[in-house]
Amino acid sequence: MLGVATPGVRIGITGLGTHVPERVMTNAELAQIVETSDEWIRERTGIRERRIAADDEALTDIAMPAAVAALADAGADPAEIDLLICATVTPDMMFPTSAALLADALGMPKAAAYDLLAGCTGFVYAIAQAYGMLASGLSRRALVVGGDVLSKILDWEDRSTLVLFGDGAGAVVMEPVERGGFLGFELGADGGGGENLWYPGSGSRKFDNPEGLLKMNGREVFKFATRIMVYSAQQLLPECGKSVEDIDVYIPHQANKRIIDYAVGKLGIPPEKTIVNVDRYGNTSSGSIPLALADARTDGRLHDGALILMTGMGAGLTWGSALLEWTTGRPS
Ligand code: UT7
Repeated sequence: MLGVATPGVRIGITGLGTHVPERVMTNAELAQIVETSDEWIRERTGIRERRIAADDEALTDIAMPAAVAALADAGADPAEIDLLICATVTPDMMFPTSAALLADALGMPKAAAYDLLAGCTGFVYAIAQAYGMLASGLSRRALVVGGDVLSKILDWEDRSTLVLFGDGAGAVVMEPVERGGFLGFELGADGGGGENLWYPGSGSRKFDNPEGLLKMNGREVFKFATRIMVYSAQQLLPECGKSVEDIDVYIPHQANKRIIDYAVGKLGIPPEKTIVNVDRYGNTSSGSIPLALADARTDGRLHDGALILMTGMGAGLTWGSALLEWTTGRPS
C-alpha cells in the first residue's frame, strides 16, 4: 500500500510518551545464561544492554505509563479519545485485547479499542490506520500504543534470538494539526517469508512447539531487512514529492546496528540524522519506533517543520514507512 495524505487534511502527533521496565540486562549477564559474549553481541548487533520486564509485568503494565505520559504531553482528556489502537505481538492475552484493557484503565468510554498484530512493524501500521480514521473524520482524537514484552516468548536457551530483543513501549496522541502532519505511508507484507520469524503454536493451528516460543532464521531476516528498509523509503519519498536530502530525522526500526548502517549507506542519509538506541534497548518490536522518536525529541531534533522518516520491518514478514512533518500546533 502506497499513499499520500488526503489534500487539505493535516493529521499529526501532538503527544508522545514512553516507558521501559526498570530491569537492565547487560550482555555480560546473558553470557552467563547462554554461550555468547559481550564482544559477539556488540560486533554483530550493536546491542550493549536491554530492559527486561519483571515476572509479574505484562504488556499493559509497561504500555500504561507510556499512554499516560502521551496523553499528558498532548494535554488530552482521556475521555475525549475515541480510538485506541495497541500494536503488539505480546498482548496480556488474546482477549480481552490489551487495547480494551488500556481504554478501560485510562477512562476512555467512547473509544473504539483493538489490538493490531504486524510484528515489529506494528507501530507504523497502527499510525497509518489511525491516520485513515482521523482523516476520514471517523475519529477525532486517537491514542496509538506500540509495545512488546518479547522476553516472555523468547527461548532463553537459544542464543541466536535471546540476545537480540528487549521490552519497551511508546504511545502517541494523533489528531488534526494546524500545519505539517503526515505526508504519506508505504506498507507491505510477505507471508511467504513468514516462517523466517514466527511464533508457531501461538494460535489455532497446531504445531510441535510445546514451549510456545519465538523462532527465527536470522540470516534470512537480515537479508529481508536490509532490502526492505531501502525499498520502502525509496517508494515513499518520491510519492510524497520529497527526496533523501529533505529528511531531517531518520528513525529506522532498531533491530540491529548493522541493518541500520546498511540502510543509511544505501539511501545516502547522513548518519548524524539517524536515531540509534538499539545499544540501550535491543529490539523492542512495536516499541522500537516510538522509543526512538522520544530520543529524537530529547536530543532537540523534533523542531517544528522537521521532516521525519520512520521505517519498520519485522514478523509477517511486514514492513512500513511513514513520512511526517513534525508540528506541535493544533488548530485553534
Ligand atoms: O525485527 C526483526 C527482527 N530480527 C532481526 O532483525 C534479525 C536479523 N538478523 C540479524 O540481526 C543477524 O542475522 C543475527 C544478529 C541474528 C546473527 O548475525 P549473523 O552475522 O547473521 O550471524 P550468523 O547467523 O551468520 O551466525 C554466525 C555464527 C554462527 O556460528 P557458526 O555457524 O559460524 O559456527 C552462530 O551459531 O555466530 C553464532 N552465533 C552466536 N555466537 C555467539 C549466533 N548467535 C550467537 C550469539 N553468540 N548470541
